[in-house]
Amino acid sequence: MWLVFTIFTIMKAPTEFRLQIPLFYNKTKLEFQKDPYERYDKMVVRQTALHLADELWGKYPFQKTMDFATPFLPDIDNPKIIELGCGVGRWIATLAMHYPNGQLWGIDYSYQMLKRANEFWIEGKKVILDLSVSGFPTIELQGHQLSNIKFGLAKAEQLPFDDNSQDVVLSSFLLDRLEDPHQGLKEMYRILRPGGTMILISPFNFIENKHWKKYHPPIRIFHFLKDLGFEVEEWNDEFILEEPLDVRGNVIGWKCVGLVGKK
Ligand SMILES: C[S@@+](CC[C@H](N)C(=O)[O-])C[C@H]1O[C@@H](n2cnc3c(N)ncnc32)[C@H](O)[C@@H]1O
Repeated sequence: MWLVFTIFTIMKAPTEFRLQIPLFYNKTKLEFQKDPYERYDKMVVRQTALHLADELWGKYPFQKTMDFATPFLPDIDNPKIIELGCGVGRWIATLAMHYPNGQLWGIDYSYQMLKRANEFWIEGKKVILDLSVSGFPTIELQGHQLSNIKFGLAKAEQLPFDDNSQDVVLSSFLLDRLEDPHQGLKEMYRILRPGGTMILISPFNFIENKHWKKYHPPIRIFHFLKDLGFEVEEWNDEFILEEPLDVRGNVIGWKCVGLVGKK
């Protein structure tokens, strides 16, 4: 199996596979237990609803993220694209369909998210979604069978990809979830090829209080990017995204930073 992966792209070998999913980080039992994103009922079901069940909301709620990124995507036939914190894989799988000759990876730290992404986008399985907790009827979602995308478990702060190996690195609603956001940015820079593009959207919903001091106001992130060597091509620190909540139409509004950096 690993031979197929090394042909697919240049990277470190996984320490093990669970079902078809390569694990590039040895997540301990305690780390699994502590990770909120491993909670199937709360997190995987909600992410599935938000990203795979447009019919619940009458549209794809995060289309704005994709529209923000589109003008900065490369005009080549076979790009190497990584999404970090891909969750159930909507953004990166949409790009896999757009670039049938591309090599795409969705990376996440949650095995449960990756399992859902893998079964939906690669194995073509049907998913039964029960979001009755938010007032919706149970629905069935039909998966896809994409062959140019893989999903793997790794930490964004410790990526298994080689230096200068990727054309594009994406992340949405990830930076503020990291234990060390600055290390995450450094890794994104490291794996991008010179001229490669990072596209990042993040609210400021930090997991550690100390991150407010380091990263707020958002211009601090702008300076970190410059210091790392990025040329900032696009910067919007008032990028509003609405996350729908329930059948009543309630939403959470997230004031995000949307940025594009070129290596
Ligand atoms: C708020 S969700 C965002 C999911 C999706 N990108 C979106 O825009 O809705 C955060 C995701 O980042 C993942 N994550 C958290 N810490 C991570 C880390 N250190 N490295 C990679 N992924 C991580 C979580 O497992 C989860 O799937």
